Amino acid sequence: MDSLGSSYRAVVIGATGGLGQAFVEHLRNDPNCGDVAALSRNSEPPIDVISEASVASAAAWLRERSAEWDLMIDATGVLTIEGHRPEKRLSEIDPAVMARGFAVNAIGPALLLKHLTPLLPRTRRCIFASLSARVGSIEDNRLGGWVSYRASNAALNQILRTAAVELRISHRQLVVASLQPGTVATRLSAPYRSRAPEVLTPEYAACRLLEVLDGLEREQSGEFFDYEGQRLPF
Ligand SMILES: NC(=O)c1ccc[n+]([C@@H]2O[C@H](COP(=O)([O-])OP(=O)(O)OC[C@H]3O[C@@H](n4cnc5c(N)ncnc54)[C@H](OP(=O)(O)O)[C@@H]3O)[C@@H](O)[C@H]2O)c1
Repeated sequence: MDSLGSSYRAVVIGATGGLGQAFVEHLRNDPNCGDVAALSRNSEPPIDVISEASVASAAAWLRERSAEWDLMIDATGVLTIEGHRPEKRLSEIDPAVMARGFAVNAIGPALLLKHLTPLLPRTRRCIFASLSARVGSIEDNRLGGWVSYRASNAALNQILRTAAVELRISHRQLVVASLQPGTVATRLSAPYRSRAPEVLTPEYAACRLLEVLDGLEREQSGEFFDYEGQRLPF
């Protein structure tokens, strides 16, 4: 990435995922990137986004390593929830499963925003991006189904937009972005991608998303973009 200058520091949460690993790999190979913290439920420190204590401990660990982090990428998320496939119809709604989906896909990133954004620099360009999903777009929803995944990603987009508005004052050069990675060959999509018109490799999707982030202006903070840089409707 060029827009964050040289020696920028990056943190990836969900670094064990298909996309998370690919982001870490790209960033480690970027000569401009001075440090990459790859955090996950299995890292040291571990970070489980449904536990505020674990998010707070990871934030404290990051602060000890450096007072400022320029790029934060949240690559966490669930589609199949504890063995439950996404709902095909309303009769399949299970409140406990739905709550779990919201806890990971929406409340988890909200906790990341709460605890990690104090580590963003206030006086230079910085980025907080979270992987969302096109199916979280309300305007784009013509097929129905997948109510928990759709709704939790719609909530995620609203949370990111709200954060962008609030932080515009304290972090004038911050870009907050919701990202749609495309259909990508990962664990998450494996059971559902047979009819996708195009399936991307995680390496390709992560590379394109980093290019998109690199090109975003601060005026575009709080928007929703796909891996080709197209703005998506909320
Ligand atoms: N793949 C696609 O086609 C596609 C399409 C649209 C959007 N997305 C979005 O892209 C994001 C990444 O998905 P992926 O395709 O890379 O899936 P993945 O390979 O299944 O990775 C998901 C990541 O989320 C982590 N995670 C799950 N629950 C967590 C929790 N409670 N706390 C911390 N981490 C947790 C997983 O950690 P563990 O390894 O510990 O389970 C893993 O690192 C998701 O938000 C997904 O909605 C993906």
